[in-house]
Amino acid sequence: MTVRSDTFERSCEHWSDAGREEMEAFYELARIDYRYLAEAYDWASAFQHLADRKSGIRLIDVACGSGKFPQALLACPGVAGLSKIPNFKLDYDLLDPSPFSVREAKQALAAPFYSGAEFCCTLQDWDEDAGLYDIAWATHALYCVPAEELEQGLARMCNSLSHDGFGFIAQGMRDGHYVGFYDQYLASMADRDGTPYSDGGQVETALKNLGMQVHSRVLNYTTVVPADRPELLESYLQRCAFDDALSLEDMLQREPLAGYLASCHDPESGEYQFPQRVGMMVFSHTEAGLTLDDAKVSGVD
Ligand SMILES: C[S@@+](CC[C@H](N)C(=O)[O-])C[C@H]1O[C@@H](n2cnc3c(N)ncnc32)[C@H](O)[C@@H]1O
Repeated sequence: MTVRSDTFERSCEHWSDAGREEMEAFYELARIDYRYLAEAYDWASAFQHLADRKSGIRLIDVACGSGKFPQALLACPGVAGLSKIPNFKLDYDLLDPSPFSVREAKQALAAPFYSGAEFCCTLQDWDEDAGLYDIAWATHALYCVPAEELEQGLARMCNSLSHDGFGFIAQGMRDGHYVGFYDQYLASMADRDGTPYSDGGQVETALKNLGMQVHSRVLNYTTVVPADRPELLESYLQRCAFDDALSLEDMLQREPLAGYLASCHDPESGEYQFPQRVGMMVFSHTEAGLTLDDAKVSGVD
């Protein structure tokens, strides 16, 4: 019997050149996750607010993945327009244990984001003295940091923030698709003892335990897979679990996963409708540092 590796190891196996095709299929559906984050705040004015106070802005993207968040920001006219302001520049450092991800994210950057230092390591192992950042973000990124290691990892992120800088984390809640599906997946496997994804609520608790000021909101939306795209459905779900050995047919038979998938299936349209609940947390050492929260766009809980 082949032994399945645990959550973090499987994540690393999939964030690789070999996993590119599966990643691209996944983002056919998941790219929108980042558009929603880009539209939830007036990022351009938050960047400008910082720039009014400093000569240059330093940013670190933690668990940068393939750079879908900066791409979504660059698609916002306000952010893209900042590149026309003389000398306006965000120095953009990247952190990820996957060399593939660091390479991909670097290629996704364009003005006003300028790529800087690269740290090829986990957040928990990041111990370089890289100086202070004005912004540190991690978007749909920290699921594979086990709950018991979150506080230690997030302490690194918080310590890297300047006094008036801000952090931003987006992470699925336990009752939303990404984390909920993975819980059902683990419960459906013979060994049942994989490490669960950490969730947005656990991130918020850890940030508060670290003494940070935190403002959070929850984003609700639905990921819809059309009835006539079973292959896309399979690739999407396999990527959600970092397991391409489990076929859609298997998923539809193993409980409790089968029951969860049935609850997301609309028999009339044949679509699968996955309910997303994403915690968005803005944090800072001080209330005054929560400038991004002042730039929030209404319409989100
Ligand atoms: C879904 S991607 C993040 C997406 C990204 N924010 C974007 O804009 O496209 C998740 C990334 O987390 C990385 N990762 C997994 N465990 C990590 C850890 N403990 N510390 C830092 N990064 C980690 C993976 O290698 C992967 O590149």
